[in-house]
Amino acid sequence: MIELAEVTKAYYGAKGQDPLVAVNGVSLTIQDGEFLAIVGPSGCGKTTLLNLVAGFEAPTQGRVELDQEAITRPGPERAVVFQQPSLLPWMTVAENIAFGVMLKAGRVGVDPHQLAHMVHMMGLDGFESHRPYQLSGGMQQRVAIARALMTEPRILLMDEPFGALDAQTRSDMQRFLLELWKVNRPTVLFVTHDVEEAVLLGDRVVVMTARPGQIALDIVIDLPRPRQWDLVLSHEFNQYKRRILQVLRPDRKSSRIG
Ligand SMILES: Nc1ncnc2c1ncn2[C@@H]1O[C@H](COP(=O)(O)OP(=O)(O)OP(=O)(O)O)[C@@H](O)[C@H]1O
Ligand SMILES: [Mg+2]
Repeated sequence: MIELAEVTKAYYGAKGQDPLVAVNGVSLTIQDGEFLAIVGPSGCGKTTLLNLVAGFEAPTQGRVELDQEAITRPGPERAVVFQQPSLLPWMTVAENIAFGVMLKAGRVGVDPHQLAHMVHMMGLDGFESHRPYQLSGGMQQRVAIARALMTEPRILLMDEPFGALDAQTRSDMQRFLLELWKVNRPTVLFVTHDVEEAVLLGDRVVVMTARPGQIALDIVIDLPRPRQWDLVLSHEFNQYKRRILQVLRPDRKSSRIG
Protein backbone atom coordinates (compact mmCIF):
# COMPACT_ATOMS: atom_id res chain seq x y z
CA MET A 1 0.00 0.00 0.00
CA ILE A 2 1.22 3.49 -0.89
CA GLU A 3 0.24 6.35 1.34
CA LEU A 4 0.73 10.07 0.94
CA ALA A 5 -0.32 12.08 3.99
CA GLU A 6 -0.56 15.87 3.79
CA VAL A 7 2.31 15.98 1.34
CA THR A 8 3.73 19.32 0.29
CA LYS A 9 6.68 19.71 -2.02
CA ALA A 10 8.40 23.05 -2.49
CA TYR A 11 11.40 23.66 -4.69
CA TYR A 12 13.91 26.20 -3.46
CA GLY A 13 15.61 28.31 -6.08
CA ALA A 14 18.25 31.00 -5.70
CA LYS A 15 18.67 32.70 -2.34
CA GLY A 16 16.08 35.37 -1.72
CA GLN A 17 13.63 33.86 -4.20
CA ASP A 18 10.31 32.53 -2.98
CA PRO A 19 10.10 28.75 -2.99
CA LEU A 20 7.94 27.25 -5.69
CA VAL A 21 5.22 25.10 -4.18
CA ALA A 22 4.59 22.29 -6.66
CA VAL A 23 2.31 20.07 -4.57
CA ASN A 24 0.27 21.29 -1.64
CA GLY A 25 -1.20 19.12 1.10
CA VAL A 26 -1.96 16.03 -0.93
CA SER A 27 -3.33 12.98 0.88
CA LEU A 28 -3.81 9.82 -1.10
CA THR A 29 -3.90 6.10 -0.37
CA ILE A 30 -3.32 3.63 -3.18
CA GLN A 31 -4.15 0.00 -2.48
CA ASP A 32 -2.04 -2.89 -3.72
CA GLY A 33 -3.04 -3.85 -7.24
CA GLU A 34 -4.98 -0.66 -7.84
CA PHE A 35 -4.79 1.20 -11.15
CA LEU A 36 -4.82 4.91 -10.35
CA ALA A 37 -4.90 7.48 -13.14
CA ILE A 38 -3.83 11.05 -12.40
CA VAL A 39 -4.87 13.98 -14.58
CA GLY A 40 -4.29 17.69 -14.17
CA PRO A 41 -3.14 20.78 -16.05
CA SER A 42 0.46 21.16 -17.17
CA GLY A 43 2.76 22.16 -14.32
CA CYS A 44 0.35 21.12 -11.55
CA GLY A 45 2.81 18.73 -9.94
CA LYS A 46 1.97 15.33 -11.44
CA THR A 47 5.58 14.43 -12.20
CA THR A 48 6.57 15.77 -8.79
CA LEU A 49 4.04 13.43 -7.17
CA LEU A 50 5.41 10.47 -9.10
CA ASN A 51 8.99 11.46 -8.22
CA LEU A 52 8.06 11.46 -4.54
CA VAL A 53 6.68 7.92 -4.77
CA ALA A 54 9.66 6.85 -6.88
CA GLY A 55 11.96 8.16 -4.15
CA PHE A 56 13.75 10.66 -6.40
CA GLU A 57 12.50 13.57 -4.31
CA ALA A 58 11.69 13.99 -0.61
CA PRO A 59 8.59 15.84 0.57
CA THR A 60 9.02 19.24 2.22
CA GLN A 61 6.17 18.37 4.55
CA GLY A 62 4.08 15.28 5.15
CA ARG A 63 4.71 11.58 4.67
CA VAL A 64 5.21 9.38 1.62
CA GLU A 65 5.12 5.73 2.63
CA LEU A 66 5.19 2.27 1.17
CA ASP A 67 3.83 -0.42 3.50
CA GLN A 68 3.94 2.07 6.38
CA GLU A 69 7.61 2.83 5.83
CA ALA A 70 8.91 6.17 4.61
CA ILE A 71 10.11 6.15 1.00
CA THR A 72 13.61 7.60 1.08
CA ARG A 73 15.15 6.25 -2.10
CA PRO A 74 14.29 4.43 -5.31
CA GLY A 75 13.81 0.67 -5.00
CA PRO A 76 13.69 -2.33 -7.33
CA GLU A 77 9.99 -2.94 -6.61
CA ARG A 78 9.16 0.42 -8.21
CA ALA A 79 9.65 0.78 -11.96
CA VAL A 80 9.40 4.17 -13.60
CA VAL A 81 8.49 5.15 -17.14
CA PHE A 82 9.65 8.75 -17.49
CA GLN A 83 7.86 11.48 -19.38
CA GLN A 84 10.98 11.98 -21.51
CA PRO A 85 12.54 8.96 -23.21
CA SER A 86 15.39 7.84 -20.98
CA LEU A 87 17.37 5.14 -22.73
CA LEU A 88 21.03 4.30 -22.46
CA PRO A 89 22.33 5.55 -25.82
CA TRP A 90 25.25 3.13 -26.10
CA MET A 91 23.07 0.07 -25.59
CA THR A 92 20.96 -1.71 -28.16
CA VAL A 93 17.17 -1.95 -27.98
CA ALA A 94 17.39 -5.48 -26.55
CA GLU A 95 20.00 -4.44 -23.99
CA ASN A 96 17.94 -1.44 -22.95
CA ILE A 97 14.83 -3.58 -22.51
CA ALA A 98 16.78 -6.12 -20.46
CA PHE A 99 18.53 -3.45 -18.40
CA GLY A 100 16.07 -3.26 -15.51
CA VAL A 101 16.05 -7.03 -15.08
CA MET A 102 19.87 -7.09 -15.31
CA LEU A 103 20.10 -4.61 -12.44
CA LYS A 104 17.72 -6.68 -10.37
CA ALA A 105 18.81 -10.22 -11.15
CA GLY A 106 21.92 -10.13 -13.35
CA ARG A 107 22.28 -11.48 -16.87
CA VAL A 108 20.92 -14.90 -15.88
CA GLY A 109 17.69 -13.20 -14.84
CA VAL A 110 16.89 -12.23 -18.41
CA ASP A 111 14.53 -14.74 -20.01
CA PRO A 112 15.13 -14.62 -23.79
CA HIS A 113 11.57 -15.77 -24.52
CA GLN A 114 10.10 -13.03 -22.36
CA LEU A 115 12.43 -10.52 -24.03
CA ALA A 116 11.34 -11.66 -27.51
CA HIS A 117 7.69 -11.49 -26.49
CA MET A 118 8.15 -7.98 -25.11
CA VAL A 119 9.92 -6.84 -28.29
CA HIS A 120 7.07 -8.28 -30.33
CA MET A 121 4.27 -6.79 -28.23
CA MET A 122 5.94 -3.39 -28.40
CA GLY A 123 6.08 -3.60 -32.19
CA LEU A 124 9.87 -3.54 -32.20
CA ASP A 125 10.57 -6.73 -34.15
CA GLY A 126 13.68 -6.31 -36.29
CA PHE A 127 15.01 -3.43 -34.21
CA GLU A 128 16.60 -5.49 -31.42
CA SER A 129 20.13 -4.49 -32.40
CA HIS A 130 19.39 -0.85 -33.16
CA ARG A 131 20.59 1.93 -30.90
CA PRO A 132 18.18 4.52 -29.50
CA TYR A 133 19.29 7.27 -31.92
CA GLN A 134 18.16 5.04 -34.79
CA LEU A 135 14.58 4.96 -33.48
CA SER A 136 11.71 7.41 -33.68
CA GLY A 137 10.57 9.15 -30.49
CA GLY A 138 7.57 6.85 -30.12
CA MET A 139 9.74 3.76 -30.57
CA GLN A 140 12.17 5.00 -27.93
CA GLN A 141 9.27 5.46 -25.57
CA ARG A 142 8.09 1.89 -26.26
CA VAL A 143 11.57 0.61 -25.38
CA ALA A 144 11.40 2.51 -22.09
CA ILE A 145 7.96 1.02 -21.38
CA ALA A 146 9.24 -2.46 -22.19
CA ARG A 147 12.20 -2.00 -19.86
CA ALA A 148 9.85 -1.16 -16.98
CA LEU A 149 7.38 -3.97 -17.74
CA MET A 150 10.13 -6.59 -18.12
CA THR A 151 10.98 -6.32 -14.44
CA GLU A 152 7.40 -7.28 -13.52
CA PRO A 153 7.48 -4.61 -10.82
CA ARG A 154 5.18 -4.54 -7.85
CA ILE A 155 4.63 -0.84 -8.49
CA LEU A 156 4.58 0.81 -11.89
CA LEU A 157 4.96 4.58 -12.08
CA MET A 158 4.11 5.82 -15.54
CA ASP A 159 4.40 9.48 -16.49
CA GLU A 160 2.39 10.18 -19.65
CA PRO A 161 3.87 7.01 -21.15
CA PHE A 162 1.77 7.02 -24.31
CA GLY A 163 1.84 10.76 -24.94
CA ALA A 164 4.18 10.54 -27.92
CA LEU A 165 2.37 7.69 -29.67
CA ASP A 166 -0.09 7.78 -32.56
CA ALA A 167 -3.70 6.79 -31.84
CA GLN A 168 -3.45 3.21 -33.08
CA THR A 169 -0.18 2.42 -31.26
CA ARG A 170 -1.50 4.09 -28.15
CA SER A 171 -4.58 1.93 -28.19
CA ASP A 172 -2.45 -1.22 -28.71
CA MET A 173 -0.25 -0.20 -25.77
CA GLN A 174 -3.27 0.44 -23.56
CA ARG A 175 -4.59 -3.02 -24.31
CA PHE A 176 -1.23 -4.65 -23.66
CA LEU A 177 -0.79 -2.77 -20.39
CA LEU A 178 -4.23 -3.86 -19.17
CA GLU A 179 -3.48 -7.47 -20.13
CA LEU A 180 -0.24 -7.42 -18.14
CA TRP A 181 -1.95 -5.69 -15.26
CA LYS A 182 -4.64 -8.37 -15.18
CA VAL A 183 -2.00 -11.10 -14.88
CA ASN A 184 0.65 -9.54 -12.61
CA ARG A 185 -1.57 -7.06 -10.79
CA PRO A 186 1.01 -4.35 -10.14
CA THR A 187 -0.07 -1.16 -8.43
CA VAL A 188 -0.11 1.43 -11.21
CA LEU A 189 0.18 5.20 -10.93
CA PHE A 190 -0.54 6.44 -14.41
CA VAL A 191 -0.22 10.12 -15.26
CA THR A 192 -1.97 11.28 -18.40
CA HIS A 193 -3.38 14.51 -19.80
CA ASP A 194 -5.98 12.48 -21.67
CA VAL A 195 -9.22 12.19 -19.68
CA GLU A 196 -10.52 9.43 -21.93
CA GLU A 197 -7.39 7.37 -21.33
CA ALA A 198 -7.69 7.91 -17.57
CA VAL A 199 -11.29 6.65 -17.48
CA LEU A 200 -10.61 3.78 -19.86
CA LEU A 201 -7.69 2.45 -17.81
CA GLY A 202 -8.23 3.49 -14.22
CA ASP A 203 -9.99 1.92 -11.26
CA ARG A 204 -9.91 5.42 -9.94
CA VAL A 205 -9.07 8.86 -11.32
CA VAL A 206 -7.51 11.67 -9.33
CA VAL A 207 -7.86 15.16 -10.78
CA MET A 208 -5.37 17.79 -9.64
CA THR A 209 -5.79 21.56 -9.62
CA ALA A 210 -3.37 23.96 -11.25
CA ARG A 211 -0.20 24.63 -9.26
CA PRO A 212 0.16 24.31 -6.36
CA GLY A 213 -1.32 20.92 -7.07
CA GLN A 214 -4.09 19.76 -4.81
CA ILE A 215 -6.62 17.02 -5.27
CA ALA A 216 -9.79 18.45 -6.76
CA LEU A 217 -11.57 15.15 -7.41
CA ASP A 218 -10.95 11.53 -6.48
CA ILE A 219 -13.43 9.33 -8.28
CA VAL A 220 -13.87 5.55 -8.53
CA ILE A 221 -14.46 4.33 -12.09
CA ASP A 222 -17.03 1.62 -11.67
CA LEU A 223 -16.94 0.21 -15.19
CA PRO A 224 -16.64 -3.54 -15.81
CA ARG A 225 -13.45 -5.15 -17.08
CA PRO A 226 -12.17 -6.24 -19.50
CA ARG A 227 -12.80 -2.87 -21.06
CA GLN A 228 -13.18 -2.69 -24.81
CA TRP A 229 -12.41 0.37 -26.87
CA ASP A 230 -16.11 0.93 -27.68
CA LEU A 231 -16.73 1.56 -23.99
CA VAL A 232 -15.84 5.17 -24.80
CA LEU A 233 -19.13 5.41 -26.67
CA SER A 234 -21.25 4.38 -23.71
CA HIS A 235 -23.36 6.69 -21.60
CA GLU A 236 -21.66 5.67 -18.32
CA PHE A 237 -18.22 6.35 -19.76
CA ASN A 238 -19.22 9.80 -20.91
CA GLN A 239 -20.78 10.62 -17.55
CA TYR A 240 -17.40 10.01 -15.93
CA LYS A 241 -15.63 11.99 -18.61
CA ARG A 242 -18.00 14.92 -18.23
CA ARG A 243 -17.65 14.90 -14.45
CA ILE A 244 -13.85 14.99 -14.69
CA LEU A 245 -13.79 17.67 -17.39
CA GLN A 246 -16.08 19.86 -15.32
CA VAL A 247 -13.51 19.82 -12.52
CA LEU A 248 -10.52 20.05 -14.83
CA ARG A 249 -11.86 22.92 -16.90
CA PRO A 250 -14.75 24.53 -15.03
CA ASP A 251 -14.91 27.42 -17.51
CA ARG A 252 -15.92 24.95 -20.20
CA LYS A 253 -19.57 25.09 -19.21
CA SER A 254 -19.92 28.47 -20.83
CA SER A 255 -17.30 28.17 -23.54
CA ARG A 256 -18.38 27.47 -27.06
CA ILE A 257 -16.39 26.27 -29.95
CA GLY A 258 -17.57 27.51 -33.31
N1 LIG B 1 13.54 19.96 -9.90
C1 LIG B 1 12.78 21.06 -9.89
N2 LIG B 1 13.26 22.23 -9.44
C2 LIG B 1 12.50 23.33 -9.40
N3 LIG B 1 11.21 23.37 -9.82
C3 LIG B 1 10.67 22.24 -10.29
C4 LIG B 1 11.42 21.03 -10.35
N4 LIG B 1 10.61 20.05 -10.87
C5 LIG B 1 9.43 20.65 -11.11
N5 LIG B 1 9.46 21.94 -10.75
C6 LIG B 1 8.34 22.89 -10.84
O1 LIG B 1 7.24 22.32 -10.16
C7 LIG B 1 6.03 22.56 -10.85
C8 LIG B 1 5.35 21.23 -11.13
O2 LIG B 1 6.13 20.53 -12.09
P1 LIG B 1 5.77 19.06 -12.56
O3 LIG B 1 6.83 18.63 -13.50
O4 LIG B 1 5.56 18.21 -11.36
O5 LIG B 1 4.39 19.29 -13.30
P2 LIG B 1 3.51 18.31 -14.22
O6 LIG B 1 2.13 18.32 -13.65
O7 LIG B 1 4.19 17.03 -14.35
O8 LIG B 1 3.48 19.09 -15.61
P3 LIG B 1 3.39 18.48 -17.12
O9 LIG B 1 1.97 18.04 -17.33
O10 LIG B 1 3.72 19.67 -17.99
O11 LIG B 1 4.37 17.39 -17.24
C9 LIG B 1 6.40 23.35 -12.09
O12 LIG B 1 6.13 24.71 -11.85
C10 LIG B 1 7.88 23.13 -12.25
O13 LIG B 1 8.51 24.25 -12.80
MG1 LIG C 1 5.02 16.03 -15.92
